[in-house]
Amino acid sequence: MAEQILTPERGGIDRAVALLEQGQPVALPTETVYGLGADAENADAVAAIYALKSRPAFNPLIAHCHSVEMAFAQGHATQGAQRLAERFWPGPLTLVLDISDSCRVCSLARAGLETIALRVPAHPVMSEVLRRFGRPIVAPSANPSGKISPTSAAHVSADFGEKLGFILDGGPCEAGVESTIVDARGDTAVLLRQGPVSIEELDTIWPGVQSDLTSPDAPRAPGQLLRHYAPNARLRLNATRAEPGELLLGFGDIQGDATLSKDGDLVEAAARLFDQLRLLDAKTGHIAVAPIPNIGIGAAINDRLNRAAETK
Ligand code: TXA
Ligand code: MG
Repeated sequence: MAEQILTPERGGIDRAVALLEQGQPVALPTETVYGLGADAENADAVAAIYALKSRPAFNPLIAHCHSVEMAFAQGHATQGAQRLAERFWPGPLTLVLDISDSCRVCSLARAGLETIALRVPAHPVMSEVLRRFGRPIVAPSANPSGKISPTSAAHVSADFGEKLGFILDGGPCEAGVESTIVDARGDTAVLLRQGPVSIEELDTIWPGVQSDLTSPDAPRAPGQLLRHYAPNARLRLNATRAEPGELLLGFGDIQGDATLSKDGDLVEAAARLFDQLRLLDAKTGHIAVAPIPNIGIGAAINDRLNRAAETK
């Protein structure tokens, strides 16, 4: 158990803001996954986050902002970035931009890069924390580096126990997979990580989106290492039934020992993905997973499953 888990109704927002001001790391809910938040300007607080997660220092963090104005004070807004922000913020989209002169995010949080990843989250609890704190909060997903992201306060608590002092419990995460990341620095948008905002949706706002998802040795989003989101169990994908010794994660007509969505609803499947993977991971060393259609948010689900299935 973390030392303290509080809901907003029990004073959780006050406590989270007070701890952030003291330079303490706190787990915070967002609409995608839970984040491990720290004051983006405080290098000691940021260092504590890298240490808690055992995260390599070359892997930069996303700065979460209360408003579009706060975000574009940190990074230089291209025209394309402005259009995407207008359509998708607040929401599960992260934009990579060149840092601006007024950027307040410390160099450690940016892993020394001259670029910055920015997002304006939609979760009302996170939004209120950001409004009250008044400055950017950096927050990687609240899991040990390389492991499955958390979509509930209970997941965060199970991963960190008493090493983490405080979790703000904002309920289960609605989207369930991490934000879509787009490099919006140039004339063309480049998709760096698939997420709740699909490439088709991006393309309607900024046509001609390119993808740069397939270079695990030199990833443009340094966190996109091939083996990532990893359960302890071996995963076998595109399975229509369980082999002896396996438990099956079902979808649609393929019924499993656990299921992502009985109705074949991809949005529901994304929201349940990490929770159901954790559930089966606790029971077995071999998980078979039903095929997931690669459309809309299904592309992000398959991306996470492919990474979780990698053996190195
Ligand atoms: O939905 C999310 O994005 C969640 C919630 C908590 O907001 N956060 C999250 O953070 O997934 P994290 O640290 O687990 O993943 C951030 C990704 C990493 O792959 C990192 O390499 C990439 O963003 N990133 C951060 N700054 C970058 C930059 N300047 N250029 C390219 N990629 C960057
Ligand atoms: Mg992560």
